[in-house]
Amino acid sequence: MEINNLVEKIEKHIDFTYEEINSVIKKYTMGEYSDQDFLPVIKAIYKNDISDKCLYYLTNSMKNSGAVLDQTPLGKTVDKHSTGGVSDTTTIAIVPILACLNTKMLKLSGRSLGFTGGTCDKLECFEGYKTDIPLQKAFELVKENGGCMMTSTADIAPADKKIYALRDKTNLVDNISLIASSVMSKKLATGANIIVLDVKYGDGAFMPDKKSAKILGKKMIMLAKKDNKKAKVVYGDMSQPLGYNVGTKLECMEIVKLLGHYDKHNPLLKACIKLSALCHALDKHIPYFIAKAKVVKVIKNKRALEKLKTMVSCQGGKLDLFEQNYDKPSLVKLAQNDCILKAFKTKELGEIVNTFNHKYKSNEYGVITYQKIGDKIKKGEKLFSLYAPHDEVEEISRQIFDCFIFHS
Ligand code: URA
Ligand code: CA
Repeated sequence: MEINNLVEKIEKHIDFTYEEINSVIKKYTMGEYSDQDFLPVIKAIYKNDISDKCLYYLTNSMKNSGAVLDQTPLGKTVDKHSTGGVSDTTTIAIVPILACLNTKMLKLSGRSLGFTGGTCDKLECFEGYKTDIPLQKAFELVKENGGCMMTSTADIAPADKKIYALRDKTNLVDNISLIASSVMSKKLATGANIIVLDVKYGDGAFMPDKKSAKILGKKMIMLAKKDNKKAKVVYGDMSQPLGYNVGTKLECMEIVKLLGHYDKHNPLLKACIKLSALCHALDKHIPYFIAKAKVVKVIKNKRALEKLKTMVSCQGGKLDLFEQNYDKPSLVKLAQNDCILKAFKTKELGEIVNTFNHKYKSNEYGVITYQKIGDKIKKGEKLFSLYAPHDEVEEISRQIFDCFIFHS
């Protein structure tokens, strides 16, 4: 009855009250309503825009479905969130970079879903790294090291965990109100003073283009403001993988190598520098270009790399991966002709890699790409190296090759 009324209001574009949405969200989170009971609410929001007021009520209700952290014992803190992409490993660099500059971050991260990678899965490639540490321990680590990367604890926005899983299962992820409430309920419950949002658009993101990404960005800023938090949005092109590697362990190795070797042209490192500089500038009230110079310095002098090692050790991880070189790939695919890369099927690339890692319960499979959009490629140049289970190398290689689109 209650759910029917709510759905009817959404469909007729009548604003619901906080009490109305909160009662339903609360009962769904507690298990009083099943997925099947709750799904019509998600479908109604997916199909019909809700007003900013209703979006705020929805977000607040999801935020209040669990614990709201008080980060004041840590002093001023910053948080960042990416709306999800392919080969996006920025968190693992940003947290140690900022820690070197005394900009503190308690980073709660998720797992791989659909075509997107998960920071926690990548962190666990440092053998032994514990992502599920108690919050009290995490606070100690932030005080001691300047930052901590861990899994989003069960009691942060539990409503989002259920709703996101349901959306993932029913293909109802790519909706602005649903994404805005999902991201901001978690960020506001985590309790940092400053939030930097990295909104991705393009084939490898939930938002197809910059225009829709900007609408999402504005909604999230509105939600932060209503909660008296400072938020800034940057927009990131996801028409191709952000880095060159796709696959949990390969991505982890890529970011470790980048932190140890400053390359101002590398697109993944450029994204790390931009986001770190923005976080630091907002935290310390300094101009962006000064913050950026400081960020570049701690990468060049390897302090950020050393800080990452400290953070990994403190959470039980071994440091072997820092010294490791890539294994011999299962297959190296070369260009058959001179060609120019026109586009990537980025989402599909992410999906293929996630699918076979899931199937084999592995994190080792994936692809190293060598080209970016617009690159002129000579016959015989490498297109990609593939790490795949023995029996499926040819089939997966064919699927991956199909994700490269060339000018004819
Ligand atoms: N990331 C989130 O946390 N939630 C979404 O709905 C989409 C991306
Ligand atoms: Ca090239």
